[in-house]
Amino acid sequence: MNIQSIIRKTCDGFKPYVSGKSINEIKRKYNLKAVIKLASNENSLGASKKAIKVLRDNFDKVFFYPDSSSFNLKQSLSKRYQLPVGNIFTAAGGDEIIELIAKLFFNPEDEVVISKYSFLRYAMAVQLMGSKSVVVSMSEDFKYDLQALAKACGKNTKAVFVTNPNNPTGTYNTKKEFSIFLKDLPLNKFGIKPIVILDEAYFEYASLEKDYPDGLDYLKDNINLVVFRTFSKIYGLAGLRVAYGFANEDIVDYIERTRPPFNVNLLAQIAASAAITDKDHVMHSQKLVAKERQYLYEEFEKIGVKYVKSVANFILFNSFLFMGKDIFSKLLKEGVIIRDMDEYELPNWVRVTIGLHKENKLFIEKLKKFLKS
Ligand SMILES: Cc1ncc(COP(=O)(O)O)c(C=O)c1O
Repeated sequence: MNIQSIIRKTCDGFKPYVSGKSINEIKRKYNLKAVIKLASNENSLGASKKAIKVLRDNFDKVFFYPDSSSFNLKQSLSKRYQLPVGNIFTAAGGDEIIELIAKLFFNPEDEVVISKYSFLRYAMAVQLMGSKSVVVSMSEDFKYDLQALAKACGKNTKAVFVTNPNNPTGTYNTKKEFSIFLKDLPLNKFGIKPIVILDEAYFEYASLEKDYPDGLDYLKDNINLVVFRTFSKIYGLAGLRVAYGFANEDIVDYIERTRPPFNVNLLAQIAASAAITDKDHVMHSQKLVAKERQYLYEEFEKIGVKYVKSVANFILFNSFLFMGKDIFSKLLKEGVIIRDMDEYELPNWVRVTIGLHKENKLFIEKLKKFLKS
């Protein structure tokens, strides 16, 4: 039987997403005792202590299905963000949110505008639905060019993805830029503005910047706006797979109808409800990242490495003389996992997650050793 002849056309030749390597995989492969991972923008301080406590207290409940509506988690989010539950949805990670939105809105005849050097899962979701990605260049300084994004929207544009701050560049767009962008979006053939899917996975880090826009402030006046955030980054719950979004209640209603039942697992719901109240954990994580980002900038400058200024918990850097893949491979053998950017078509660049001080120091040591070799 020829399986290829029966699968959907859009799945044929589909390339899998390459995720950051895991510590155990690298320990096994290179026979290493100690390995540090600075590859997937997790929180090096670990999970919120409040979340860990409720996880311990609730292990024995896992034989139950979770609450399919994530009732308690939505209540916690509603309280935290002062928004009605009807405007909130939850999912198994931002990755699932991207697919839920794609399944809900994207038809094969639709165009979806995305930016070059933005999170790869957007283009993949568009491809999966058989729609067309319209890719817009970034500005020279690796920022989203929101004006160009609005200009690229035409009659067939169903949606636009915006990441703020962006992964892998760590750059952000200001309140002013974002407001103008929302106003500038033209009407499509349905007589409405394209759906703006605003990915704020690194919101808590960027929110320290005065002119960084909080997507939730724009919801009331923009029924085409969907904002989402995750528990994988600052809250340190990446392993549990849980994220949340905000939108107009009609959109939320459709997401609720089309998502899989029980999509957020039982422990994830309990841990996330606790984590969202853990202000100390957020504050410590923000402080650590701000301090260590400065340390890394200074070290990069000392060794002549170019970097992009970031407002998130990772930095994109370029060593001029070497291919990113070579730096990545060499550091991997030395027990430091970072991320080359070949998939993003940035072959000279590498992304490093900001870790604990001792991890960042070790990374710099290994990088210096490589650059000298
Ligand atoms: C910009 C951005 N959006 C979404 C995600 C997905 O996060 P998760 O599925 O862990 O919530 C990531 C993960 O790296 C990301 O960097």
